[in-house]
Amino acid sequence: MAKINNIHLNNFRNFTNYKISFEKKINVLIGENGCGKTNLLEAISLISKGRGIRNSSIANLIKKKEHNFLIKNNLEINNNNFDIEIFTENKNNKFKKIVKVNEDSSKDSIDILNQFISILIFVPEMERLFQASPSYRRNFIDRLVFASKNTYNILVNKYKKFLLERIKILQKNVIDNNWLNQIERDISSLGLEIYQLRCSQINYINNNLIILKKDHKFPFNLKLQIKDDYFNEDLSFEEYLSYLFNSRSYDKQFGGTKIGPHRSDILAIINNDFDASLLSTGQQKTIVLMILLAQCNYLVNHKNINPILLLDEIGSHLDSYNRQILLDMINRFEIQFFLSGTDKDLFSFISTNAKFYNITEL
Ligand SMILES: Nc1ncnc2c1ncn2[C@@H]1O[C@H](COP(=O)(O)OP(=O)(O)OP(=O)(O)O)[C@@H](O)[C@H]1O
Ligand SMILES: [Mg+2]
Repeated sequence: MAKINNIHLNNFRNFTNYKISFEKKINVLIGENGCGKTNLLEAISLISKGRGIRNSSIANLIKKKEHNFLIKNNLEINNNNFDIEIFTENKNNKFKKIVKVNEDSSKDSIDILNQFISILIFVPEMERLFQASPSYRRNFIDRLVFASKNTYNILVNKYKKFLLERIKILQKNVIDNNWLNQIERDISSLGLEIYQLRCSQINYINNNLIILKKDHKFPFNLKLQIKDDYFNEDLSFEEYLSYLFNSRSYDKQFGGTKIGPHRSDILAIINNDFDASLLSTGQQKTIVLMILLAQCNYLVNHKNINPILLLDEIGSHLDSYNRQILLDMINRFEIQFFLSGTDKDLFSFISTNAKFYNITEL
């Protein structure tokens, strides 16, 4: 299980030089708007692959007028301590995130780190998850798949690269058919894998919600499903390939591929009756918390993965149902939480075993 003992930020966002030690269980970051709570959660999230909770460009993470940031973490994994350094490298004005584990940046040591680190997030935008665009929901599900399978992003990146390649070929005057056929075969096999992984993740969440329902009274019945005109669980490689073949001329004109997991939507059906887009923002927060609870249950009890939870501005819109889900998440699992909010009072219901930090230093 992974826990962050402390973090030291240098020239990261609004922080010049800021060090803070954390508790193993519940850490609540409190402070005025703009003091740096989300920035601190973002810094923690960078320990995982990718660009963090805001999916920001690396250049924007560097404190204005500075040239580099350095984040040092001390991480505990199964009672062993690791020193993690995260910083930027600038090559031809392109910034790259570099990670070192105990001063070693070899692929092997980063792979080991990624095996143990799994981060789940809540950001305030998720209160409108079911009114946002489908790409936002795809991203949400993709983060959940990634938290369970840390090679998932490699798959998605490869898939996106092949999609671009296919359009480039289609838009050429002279088409290399062998090359196009091969690319479409690659797209079909990667696309199917993405569909299947998303589908399994959604099934795990739906099933874990059913398991949890036995001793947790949820305000709604929730069922997630993929909405996609071209996908069903029996979709074969050959069918996928023929869809791509048949949409060549459309895709050439449209400049994008009409078919595939990059076009799916994720629906949340409430009480077998209506779509979650009709829910209020507070109720959408309930849905997201239910999904996170189910995801934690799946990761901890079925995958033996202990995620770290980063819940930004989680204090608002917490009615008794939402509190109950959050409390259940805290009580049920031995995992580390980082919560943020503007007011300590919002967290009084968990204050007995939480440590509060006033984020003030700029
Ligand atoms: N690259 C940067 N360099 C310097 N300052 C930055 C940089 N990026 C963001 N900031 C500043 O960091 C400050 C804190 O931002 P942050 O989003 O963490 O605040 P917050 O505590 O989460 O506030 P809120 O309660 O409103 O969500 C903002 O004033 C922002 O302008
Ligand atoms: Mg914030």
